Amino acid sequence: MSRLQGKSALITGAARGIGLAFAKAYVREGATVAIGDINIEGAETAAAEIGDAAYGIELDVTRQDSIDNAIGTVKDKTGGIDILINNAALFDLAPIVEITRESYDRLFSVNVSGALFMMQAAARAMIAGGKGGRIINMASQAGRRGEALVAVYCATKAAVISMTQSAGLDLIKHGINVNAIAPGVVDGEHWDGVDALFAKYENRPLGEKKKLVGSEVPIGRMATADDLTGMAVFLASDEASYIVAQTYNVDGGNWMS
Ligand SMILES: NC(=O)c1ccc[n+]([C@@H]2O[C@H](COP(=O)([O-])OP(=O)(O)OC[C@H]3O[C@@H](n4cnc5c(N)ncnc54)[C@H](O)[C@@H]3O)[C@@H](O)[C@H]2O)c1
Repeated sequence: MSRLQGKSALITGAARGIGLAFAKAYVREGATVAIGDINIEGAETAAAEIGDAAYGIELDVTRQDSIDNAIGTVKDKTGGIDILINNAALFDLAPIVEITRESYDRLFSVNVSGALFMMQAAARAMIAGGKGGRIINMASQAGRRGEALVAVYCATKAAVISMTQSAGLDLIKHGINVNAIAPGVVDGEHWDGVDALFAKYENRPLGEKKKLVGSEVPIGRMATADDLTGMAVFLASDEASYIVAQTYNVDGGNWMS
């Protein structure tokens, strides 16, 4: 079954991790996928691995010229854009008394303004194309509640949930469905970095925090990136046409809302 046959998608931060798993799943479902990443080498390598239906684009979601250029490239390559996944994000961790303005600005510029202005640029292109579209924002269980040490990242993901609601309500009149996915803990390079930060601030051996959070998930383990692809395909498919402004938890039971 090809649920995204002929669709043109742009996935930000897709050179690795969850975004890369989404790119592979979308191509399996018949879409052409632009892998937009600040790491252009990684994006090109990922695209080459996937095959002809994927291509890499250098994209820094904190820069308007880069956003405009990426959307322009997708339009040139495929004639329009049907699906945007706002997946690029940064993480940091620190006690309140040690948070720096640099860390705050860095995370908000990628996770919040990056996602907002990507939505804006994609929505403009979708409206001009006249066929509607789908926007999927990557939130997190971190956006559902605060966490000691994680104030800034949690706030960015709460903002993503809120922007998904506002953009969802605003853009549905153009046939653009905006929704979000809130994963729990997903194994991969991202969580290796998170684990190292917890090791520093909670004085733990490397790997211990990761094991702990995995064992605490009701389903009994961390997610793999592939555990999230079903929801990403579903939200972009025709089956999800009546779903607007929602954030879905895909987290093994960590959070209920
Ligand atoms: N891994 C988890 O446990 C987890 C849990 C909940 C939510 N999420 C969310 O899922 C998404 C993907 O997470 P992941 O674990 O795959 O992350 P990751 O760190 O493995 O990948 C992030 C990608 O974003 C790219 N990127 C960074 N800054 C960028 C910029 N300015 N412009 C364009 N690209 C940029 C990086 O080069 C990288 O390829 C993120 O939004 C993350 O917050 C992850």
